[in-house]
Amino acid sequence: MEPLIEVRGLRFRYDDGTLALDGVDFQLFPGETVALFGRNGSGKTTFVHHLNGLLAGEGFVSVCGLQVEKRNLPAVRRKIGLVFQDSDEQLFMPTVIEDVAFGPLNRGQDTTAAMETASQALRDVGLEALAGRAPYHLSAGEKKRVALAGILAMEPEILVLDEPTTFLDPPAQRDLAALLRRLPQAKLVVTHDARFARALARRAVFFEKGRIVADGPIDEIVDRFQWVPGTTSGEAAGPQPAG
Ligand SMILES: Nc1ncnc2c1ncn2[C@@H]1O[C@H](COP(=O)(O)OP(=O)(O)OP(=O)(O)O)[C@@H](O)[C@H]1O
Ligand SMILES: [Mg+2]
Repeated sequence: MEPLIEVRGLRFRYDDGTLALDGVDFQLFPGETVALFGRNGSGKTTFVHHLNGLLAGEGFVSVCGLQVEKRNLPAVRRKIGLVFQDSDEQLFMPTVIEDVAFGPLNRGQDTTAAMETASQALRDVGLEALAGRAPYHLSAGEKKRVALAGILAMEPEILVLDEPTTFLDPPAQRDLAALLRRLPQAKLVVTHDARFARALARRAVFFEKGRIVADGPIDEIVDRFQWVPGTTSGEAAGPQPAG
């Protein structure tokens, strides 16, 4: 089976000299949901920003058979939808409905169809009542859900969610897990919340200092790194010293 995402030997250094990715190899296969765990600063966000060409390091990255490079970016970005860790980087239209309809309009849907797609996506995230509001003035959890609706409206083949539960209240977290389970797409979920991750994924990878140091069944990864579940704040204990 061809992987949907293939990454080989990915290295990336920020302008200030920080080596954020130090040789990452990764594959995502159709139908899979994979959790990305790792301490703060271990490279998870930097990694996912390479998947749709927001960042470009050394090494090989392909999505749905397309190498992620400048000339392929429009096509790549139709295949892979990324919900940013920081919603403020993602929301830019004057109203919620326009923000969510932006992608469908850009893909060539007419206004009526795009509005219908956007309305459905807002219903999916439980925010249809906010359609006319300004994204800028929403609460953090509302912004996160609008950003997610904007990605769902694009109907990508792969969903990448960077800390999707941050700022979500417990019912909204449960609704999000249920929604994601219903969606057929392959998914990558960056999260510190092992309980949320276990509700979605069977496989996990663990980032450490810009590398994937473990890749396997999620329960093994959680145990091995003592990535303890059970908090809703997005906090989790890091790896503990042995013994
Ligand atoms: N714009 C930037 N310029 C310089 N260094 C950066 C930049 N963004 C991130 N870094 C550094 O790159 C490394 C990886 O950061 P990254 O944001 O990918 O971590 P992360 O695993 O997503 O962390 P978190 O769990 O806190 O979201 C860190 O050392 C971070 O300080
Ligand atoms: Mg991050």
